[in-house]
Amino acid sequence: MKKVIEVSLIVIAGVAVYYGITQLPTFFPRELKTFNSDESLRQAALRSLTSMPKTYEGVLKLTNTNPNNPLSEEKIALGKLLFNEKLLSKNSDIACASCHKLTFGGDDNLPTAIGHNNQKNPFHLNTPTVLNSALYFRQFWDGRAKSVEEQAKGPIQAPFEMNMKPKEIVQRLESHGYYKDAFSSLGLELNFENVTKVIAAYERTLVTRGAFDDFLDGNNEALSSQAKKGLAIFITRGCKGCHAGVTIGSQSIQKFPLRSFMDEWFDFEFVKNSEGIFPKIIVTDNTYPFKNSGKFKGKNDEYRFKVPSLRNVYRTAPYFHNGEVKELKEAVRIMGKYQLGQIFTDEELEQLVAFLKSLDGSIIEKSDGK
Ligand code: HEC
Ligand code: HEC
Repeated sequence: MKKVIEVSLIVIAGVAVYYGITQLPTFFPRELKTFNSDESLRQAALRSLTSMPKTYEGVLKLTNTNPNNPLSEEKIALGKLLFNEKLLSKNSDIACASCHKLTFGGDDNLPTAIGHNNQKNPFHLNTPTVLNSALYFRQFWDGRAKSVEEQAKGPIQAPFEMNMKPKEIVQRLESHGYYKDAFSSLGLELNFENVTKVIAAYERTLVTRGAFDDFLDGNNEALSSQAKKGLAIFITRGCKGCHAGVTIGSQSIQKFPLRSFMDEWFDFEFVKNSEGIFPKIIVTDNTYPFKNSGKFKGKNDEYRFKVPSLRNVYRTAPYFHNGEVKELKEAVRIMGKYQLGQIFTDEELEQLVAFLKSLDGSIIEKSDGK
């Protein structure tokens, strides 16, 4: 009996030390660094976040950066048609726009994408927004494509997305008089490479601007006081360390979860048998704060993922690479705990969500509205 008590004490002490080391910092609420004016908040934000241009011309200046795919108005217009063209899929029933709905935040609002013959993405991957993607440092959840041009080759050929062969694409578009003429008037050969370049040219114009940009550009009224508090948390508690730049994310690949917490890795219970009551630890081997439905482990299977852009994030639920989290507030709570080791209060979570809402934007259109 003495031995049982000894073992129990050692185990309990071990658990306490482990919890102390991993969890203790989260029990002390941190003071929110306050800014004495909107201007000082703005200056602090501008150190890591940038506003989008105000005009269409400004957008082109920012995104017309691929020397192998110079933009022109005709190319962009053709790209828009192809982005919405269902002929690019095997059963002529899916376009890029079917999964990337521009009026729905640039995604499909499904936990996981559904493509050719109603197949779900085999890795249970969530459709990211196409909005602002031309400005990302890499494309895809694991960053495997370098540009929107390279990215566009993927979904057309993926058997669970559009399921087409490059040759079939060319045949289909050639037999369609309009496309044949359109490519030739652009001076482009109608081949697979050029189809993806033309689509990417259009994607380079899908840039959004909203209330937060107005605030960064000097309008104090653009953000509610709730959103300003959220912004202060965002820049002083570490979110901006990963979600930075003009796209407020998608400029690096980072580990997730960065911190592991014992409450997710172990279950602890007391088991009773004839000799007494014993403590029992069950290793759950769950390195995720949520179910990893598709077994996707990011870049090099190291649980490293492209940090998503937070622009328009309010409209792109559900969240994370496998769409496991429905509420934005819950996604932010998980970020605080697993990326920063901080437990935010309910009030702080609401403030962060109010700030994230201010990242909603509209596509910056040409001034003649065309
Ligand atoms: C069946 C739904 C579906 C279709 C159709 C589809 N996509 Fe996607 N798209 C996805 C999913 C899912 C991902 C993430 C895949 C990954 O990371 O492996 C993605 C990723 C992207 C990305 C990268 C965004 C980022 O954050 O890295 C871009 C850009 C994109 N798609 C554009 C397109 C274009 C252009 C087309 C048409 C040629 C297209 N998509 C067709 C579902 C779809
Ligand atoms: C150490 C880097 C890091 C820090 C710090 C960080 N994040 Fe993230 N964030 C990520 C990564 C990586 C993902 C993608 C994880 C995944 O999908 O598996 C992500 C995803 C998100 C998402 C989901 C977006 C989507 O489209 O699915 C939100 C919202 C978010 N972060 C907000 C925040 C907020 C708010 C903070 C500060 C409290 C924060 N993040 C701190 C790296 C970070």
